[in-house]
Amino acid sequence: MQNKFYITTAIDYPSSNPHLGHAYEKLCADVLARWNRLLGKQVFFLTGTDEHGLKIMRAAQKAGLTPQAFVDRQSEKFKELCSLWNISYDRFIRTTEKQHIKVAQQIFKKIYEKGDIYLGTYTGKYCADCETFYTEKDLIDGKCPVHGKECELVSEESYFFRLSKYKEKVIEYIEKNDLSIWPAGKKEEIKNRLKQDLLDLSVSRTSFDWGIPVPINPKHVQYVWIDALINYISGVDYPNEQFKKFWPADVHLIGKDIVWHHTVIWWSILMAANIELPKTVLVHGFIQTESGEKMSKSKGNVIDPIELAKNYNIDSIRYYLIREIPFGEDGYFSEEKLIERHNTELANDLGNLVNRTLAMTERYFSGVVPAGSLDVELKEKLNLEKVKQHMQKFELHLALAEIMSFVKACNQYINEKEPWKKQGKELSDIIYTLVEALRAIAILLHAFMPASSEKIANALSIEVKSIEDVFSEKGLAGKKVTKPGILFQKINR
Ligand code: MSP
Repeated sequence: MQNKFYITTAIDYPSSNPHLGHAYEKLCADVLARWNRLLGKQVFFLTGTDEHGLKIMRAAQKAGLTPQAFVDRQSEKFKELCSLWNISYDRFIRTTEKQHIKVAQQIFKKIYEKGDIYLGTYTGKYCADCETFYTEKDLIDGKCPVHGKECELVSEESYFFRLSKYKEKVIEYIEKNDLSIWPAGKKEEIKNRLKQDLLDLSVSRTSFDWGIPVPINPKHVQYVWIDALINYISGVDYPNEQFKKFWPADVHLIGKDIVWHHTVIWWSILMAANIELPKTVLVHGFIQTESGEKMSKSKGNVIDPIELAKNYNIDSIRYYLIREIPFGEDGYFSEEKLIERHNTELANDLGNLVNRTLAMTERYFSGVVPAGSLDVELKEKLNLEKVKQHMQKFELHLALAEIMSFVKACNQYINEKEPWKKQGKELSDIIYTLVEALRAIAILLHAFMPASSEKIANALSIEVKSIEDVFSEKGLAGKKVTKPGILFQKINR
């Protein structure tokens, strides 16, 4: 299908509670999903939880629950996160769902029958936190390169996937497709890693049983990463109608620690199963704490995004994160900066513009938008093409900055025109122009701040549907508008 946009996030390990990194990833995906809906595309947005494997099994034991009861409880927290953060997913997949298990087994069997999965023995250093085997040269001082913990020496009968067979094809795909991995720096990292020999990948375990049984040998469970990656096709009901409609994925949005899994491993599996490859693996940066440390569950320095959403206006949080962190780069989270942007850019700039415009419409025209002509000079201060291009190039922070510079221009327009000193046609033109500008702003901010966009739209008695409605011919003259109340309450520190 031409006019579709299928976007996924990584599925999170629910071994502990959601952290800000999880929320940030879902937020970025949500912005892209909402934006593409506004462009008129048929969007499918998939997110969910990755519920099998040793790490989950151990976390369940620690919590005194069966793995199933544990993941049932934990996945609810990730759903709560999505609801509090206004994440507009179309499906929340859980890898313990029957339908997913069926597809994961189907793919495993298909690749086995093709001869690309075979039985062997594996001995290696395993980090349960990463659910990943490491070779000696990956380890740092003999410890896991991500968690800095001792890895366990594991030796067991295992099925192997012929990853090495696909190496050249993976390289070819990267070379031929400019956007296969974004940003370019991440693509280079993968290309460099591919200069080394590729070993076949161990894709089953016998030492524990919390996983999807290998269909040809139920003594084994599937390696959790194979099970997890398959969510991207089971999530759109592989191999049925929905899959045919939405696959290949347009964007797999992930963090920088799992690019290898989503390119070399995932693409090879897809090639082995004769399935088309996703278009773009889009890599966002990591959110760190102010001290510059990486935020992670194992380090215990996480900011709870559920608490955060209860303490602040969710749109202020969404705005702050997107505006502050250049997309694709690492960034810091600072509560102080969040408050600063909330007070200046949202409460002052945006909030005042909305209130002043609607109050003047009320005062001078009893709340009915006057007929008028659009001030072309102000209209041209909005560079819509530039906003669109930034979004197209995944420069979410720049798109938002461009929209907000138009908000500033509108405030300046009010200050310069001094509508309170005007009458007749001059006054009608100013108010008409400002109301149209507000409509444009409500539409453009929808992807970033959906709740506030809706409040502005409600005040204008319009619905946010399409980017086409930005300064459209069908003006709002004659519409009754109301004041939305305070959009962003100033925070006193
Ligand atoms: N379950 C695997 C993914 C399987 S996808 C088929 C996993 N889970 S995770 O819970 O550890 O991470 C989920 C996502 O959150 C990943 O994309 C990861 O990069 C991202 N982040 C984890 N910590 C992060 C930050 N501190 N900042 C931003 N994103 C972070 O990996």
